[in-house]
Amino acid sequence: MNGYVEWASEVAREAGALLLRYYERRVRVEYKAGRGDVDVVTEADRASEAFILERLRARYPDHAIVAEEGGGRESPSPYRWYIDPLDGTTNFAHSFPQFCVSMGLEYEGKMSAAVVYDPTRDELFTAERGRGAYLNGRPIHVSAIKNLEESLMATGFPSRKRHQSTNIHFYYQLTMASHGVRRPGSAALDLCYVACGRLDAFWEFQLSPWDTAAGWLIAEEAGGRVTDMHGQAYGLSSGSIAASNGLIHGQMIGEFDRVFRGEFRYPLPPV
Ligand code: IPD
Ligand code: CA
Ligand code: CA
Repeated sequence: MNGYVEWASEVAREAGALLLRYYERRVRVEYKAGRGDVDVVTEADRASEAFILERLRARYPDHAIVAEEGGGRESPSPYRWYIDPLDGTTNFAHSFPQFCVSMGLEYEGKMSAAVVYDPTRDELFTAERGRGAYLNGRPIHVSAIKNLEESLMATGFPSRKRHQSTNIHFYYQLTMASHGVRRPGSAALDLCYVACGRLDAFWEFQLSPWDTAAGWLIAEEAGGRVTDMHGQAYGLSSGSIAASNGLIHGQMIGEFDRVFRGEFRYPLPPV
């Protein structure tokens, strides 16, 4: 993976700086999909993607690219980049400082290099397959929490087809079974926070490949475990993701199993 992380780190930092310029002057929100959905996009998403893709095309003209705002391209190359130019758009649009740039590189079907950059904290998470995970150049590791009851977790809710999401059931049960469940609003950073031990676990349904590609590798390289919510091997087209420090993975999947079966250990109190 010669130099990919270093190169992508530089590009992600520049894209992050570009995002901050839009962030400071606030941007107009546009809606991507139909009524009832809140899939928002801004000119900052598009400008960041255009910048990253221009750099990518110039440096690696034959690589395949999958990018959220549609600027990707197919290629027979064994290299494929997954780009989320702004993960956490809703936060960004409301001046809530939790968003990032996410760049993941797959080689021959395996995630091989990853960079996630949070410009508001100047935090750069990186990983290369087999070489560990880093935050601003320092090695990071998942937490050592062994009991789900003592864990801090995170999740997210979809912006499309919100009315079909069952995640609120999982949210309530896992909230009752742990120290708490956060909803920070950037899946890529959620995975990085599992990697560096700020969170003990994270789960979400229906994420897209650009949301998870980089964070997946960073979490695993930091010693974490990543599966789907049934405990099966994770892949970029899985319908859900469950990432943890490994130690509480079985307990978390056990709680999910119960909810999937309709068994609610903690019934909702009446209003
Ligand atoms: C979203 C964020 C959020 C998650 C949503 C994603 P976007 O990505 O990762 O945390 O809950 O499902 O769509 O749209 O801000 O790039
Ligand atoms: Ca995203
Ligand atoms: Ca995005």
